[in-house]
Amino acid sequence: MSISLAVLEPIIREAGAIALSYFKDLKNLAVNKKSPRDFVTAADVAVEDFLKQALTAQYPEYGFWGEESGQSANQNSRWVVDPIDGTHSFSKGQYYWAISVALEINQELVAGIVYAPALDDYYCAQKGLGAWKNGEPITVSSEDELENSMIGTGFACLRSRLENNNLERFCRIANRTTGQRRLGSAAVDVCLVADGQLDAFWEQELNLYDVAAGAVIAREAGATVTDFQGNEGLFPKQVLITNGKLLSQLLPLM
Ligand code: IPD
Ligand code: CA
Ligand code: CA
Repeated sequence: MSISLAVLEPIIREAGAIALSYFKDLKNLAVNKKSPRDFVTAADVAVEDFLKQALTAQYPEYGFWGEESGQSANQNSRWVVDPIDGTHSFSKGQYYWAISVALEINQELVAGIVYAPALDDYYCAQKGLGAWKNGEPITVSSEDELENSMIGTGFACLRSRLENNNLERFCRIANRTTGQRRLGSAAVDVCLVADGQLDAFWEQELNLYDVAAGAVIAREAGATVTDFQGNEGLFPKQVLITNGKLLSQLLPLM
């Protein structure tokens, strides 16, 4: 059975409404730590519980892998879900967080949705059918000079306390660009490259559920999706997303 983005949209928007119900009552939000620098809230769990139930009811043939509940049933064809990407931002009342849902069939990412309810931005794409934001087609930026560009990154590696923690790379690249952003949701960061709001994004030590949906959207918008050596593909431990024109200028700095 092929999926329909139109059928998925009300399910994702319902998940967004659940997230917003917690977002509007932060003083009562239960926040826990999965590890010293990794938060999970009652909203993350509630959104994922809803998505697991709704997606498997609508498409019983697909399995489910969620950040909070793990993997279930068929993992050859599965939903890859981050119920709230940007949980720390969410818990502080910031607007930059999103629900990320991807469909992976036989290890190929075929559809992605990233919904940022507080920003009221809904990104989606299906392989071969283009990338969309709030119903309008989107494409990467035309910026072809690194010196004039705006780049984004994140520091998952700091949470993992890695020696190779992206700080030196950030300084190297920041000195060669005009704008730098660390916005707090890798899922949305990748969509900003798809939408031309960022010219490139990179991050280490992510998980597939952080970037799977964004990668489908970015590819359909004309972005390159590689590792830090320029190898084509989605490698969550080394994600580099560019508008294509800047890839060759960034690779020597990665
Ligand atoms: C986090 C966000 C953040 C990235 C972290 C991720 P989470 O996702 O994507 O931008 O830098 O590494 O863990 O934990 O809020 O789902
Ligand atoms: Ca995440
Ligand atoms: Ca998350």
